[in-house]
Amino acid sequence: MSQNNNIMAYENKKMCKGGIYFSRIDFVRKKHGIEGMSRILEKMKSSGYNGPMDEKSIKIAKWYPMDYNISFLKTYRDLYGERNLMRMAREAPKRKGFVGLFLKWAGNPETLIKKSGEYWSSLYNFGRLEGTVTGEGAAVIKGYDVSPDPIFCDFLTEYFIGIIEQTGVSSITSEHTLCSHKGADHEEWVLKWGKSNKADKKETKEISWNKSLESGIDEIDRQHMEFVRILNEVNKNVGKASVASLRKTLNFMDHYAHWHFGTEEKYMKKYNYPYTQSHMLQHRKFYDYTQEMIEKSKYGIDEELALSVKTYLIDWLILHIQNTDMKFARFLKENNLVMEEEEMPEDIEDALRDMNLLIKEF
Ligand SMILES: [Fe+2]
Ligand SMILES: [Fe+2]
Repeated sequence: MSQNNNIMAYENKKMCKGGIYFSRIDFVRKKHGIEGMSRILEKMKSSGYNGPMDEKSIKIAKWYPMDYNISFLKTYRDLYGERNLMRMAREAPKRKGFVGLFLKWAGNPETLIKKSGEYWSSLYNFGRLEGTVTGEGAAVIKGYDVSPDPIFCDFLTEYFIGIIEQTGVSSITSEHTLCSHKGADHEEWVLKWGKSNKADKKETKEISWNKSLESGIDEIDRQHMEFVRILNEVNKNVGKASVASLRKTLNFMDHYAHWHFGTEEKYMKKYNYPYTQSHMLQHRKFYDYTQEMIEKSKYGIDEELALSVKTYLIDWLILHIQNTDMKFARFLKENNLVMEEEEMPEDIEDALRDMNLLIKEF
């Protein structure tokens, strides 16, 4: 009974992912040195906070109370002023590593705006964000129950600029037009931006395997590394609309999905993982999407199709691998459950060979 109450209390609490702290810690370190971070921690501790606040103990995919988030922002503002707080918000998306790279990758502000709601839900367990492109270089973002404190409205206003900035467009403005702390029933931001100043718009960087993608379960990580390789392969196809190679990539996605999801699902069932059904449902959607694209590609492949596949795979990386799979990996680790190495099936080797991606070491 009391355990149930605890779970309820936890679920009703506003929480955010640990990942959001990393860019801030980086920023504070760069700007105010290690002492800067200890000053913030000291001050937060004196007002009752006693959780982790350094890169080593904060886990990217774990949930932390939103109160800490707000308290961190307020403490920082008290110590270093409003202007620095705004700088921190603007710089947050610039952090090297996965998130920053992803933003450059998404390529255009429109994609980011449309996906903003999904990204919000992957970072916060409360509220809802809704992004709509309203014209060329213009968008509205609506937020319902997203800002527990006015300081967070200010932070988001600047943060949105930082995000759009990463796609390489200039003259960005962000205006907080409706505020729930000033009587409105939801939050609203109006965003505007100018033309892209990137001449080589199509040249995007490769995603390299990094810590934010690691689940800590060797076999899952090994298979996910393969996924990152497909993603990079698709990226090469965007802009060139290389029909033959995108077809090969789709073929690989199909085989890969059966192998990799099969592996994960086998262990979910074996260990009675409580979220097996919802996890499998997401896998099902990936199968369906791949089949749909394979069908479509029979009638020709164009830039739009290549872009759609690319966007889908990036989303998958963020929403599934960094969230759903991490949750499963945590379950395995917490219960000391092991996963054996799964041999790569021959059809995958063939598909890789087809793409000239077979590396001898496998
Ligand atoms: Fe999965
Ligand atoms: Fe996975």
